[in-house]
Amino acid sequence: MKNARKIIFYNQKGGVGKTTSAVNLGSALAAMDYKVLLIDFDAQCNLTGAVSGDLRKANIYQIVVGDVPAASAVQATIFKNLYLIPGSLDVASLSIELVNENNREYYLKTVLESLETDYDYILLDCPPSLGLETMNALAWADFVIIPLQCEYMAMEGLNLIMRTINNVRKGGLNPKLKVLGILFTMYSKRALLNQQVVEDISEFFPDLVFKTIIPRSVRISEAPSHGLPINFYDKSNAGSKAFAELAKEVVSRVE
Ligand SMILES: Nc1ncnc2c1ncn2[C@@H]1O[C@H](COP(=O)(O)OP(=O)(O)O)[C@@H](O)[C@H]1O
Ligand SMILES: [Mg+2]
Repeated sequence: MKNARKIIFYNQKGGVGKTTSAVNLGSALAAMDYKVLLIDFDAQCNLTGAVSGDLRKANIYQIVVGDVPAASAVQATIFKNLYLIPGSLDVASLSIELVNENNREYYLKTVLESLETDYDYILLDCPPSLGLETMNALAWADFVIIPLQCEYMAMEGLNLIMRTINNVRKGGLNPKLKVLGILFTMYSKRALLNQQVVEDISEFFPDLVFKTIIPRSVRISEAPSHGLPINFYDKSNAGSKAFAELAKEVVSRVE
């Protein structure tokens, strides 16, 4: 029997590489022969498309509101070892629908519990907000990966994220939540600011930053429109190699 490691990709900012990291880390872990479930918990549903998922089938919204049991919404993807619970536009309305419910932060945790023994890793993609959906994700997870673009104000954004995570722990929402790592994304060697940000943040959080840095690559941005993770779209690409390295680091950190 397995006991899944539950990881979310969290940064309240949009466009920092959350979905890209979820898809490609998931696919890299699957290539290492781990059984991986991806959950698309963003109303934009980008993750679903990126692994050629079927949006017409049962989705995460229907699970959370109790219309379908979690296991019945899992779809096998065309990729070995990689499974998916698709997203839904309706996820955006959960904040409003659940607002008067007791335990409204623990819906996700409750409905997903039965899946934990079926997978080695469950990776959940968060929306770019601090709404109730994200609170549910933070309450459910074991680990947070923080994707970070190496740009102006990155440190300020990171401090805000760390403060939120500390509040989640100390406030009791999820006392066991751990930061698995800070992941630099869309890194360009030629951009001096990128280098500076990586240096500053690595100095400040030496134990938290992943050694692997995800390079900026056109191939990474093209892959989702073909419904393929980067290791299937262009295996020899530097980004594909980076996600394979990241997967090894993740495995060594969760063990
Ligand atoms: N390493 C990368 N190189 C080039 N483009 C990237 C890279 N990572 C992400 N992108 C692109 O940047 C945009 C935002 O990434 P995404 O993963 O969707 O961010 P988020 O989920 O945080 O909003 C997308 O168009 C994506 O294809
Ligand atoms: Mg996204």
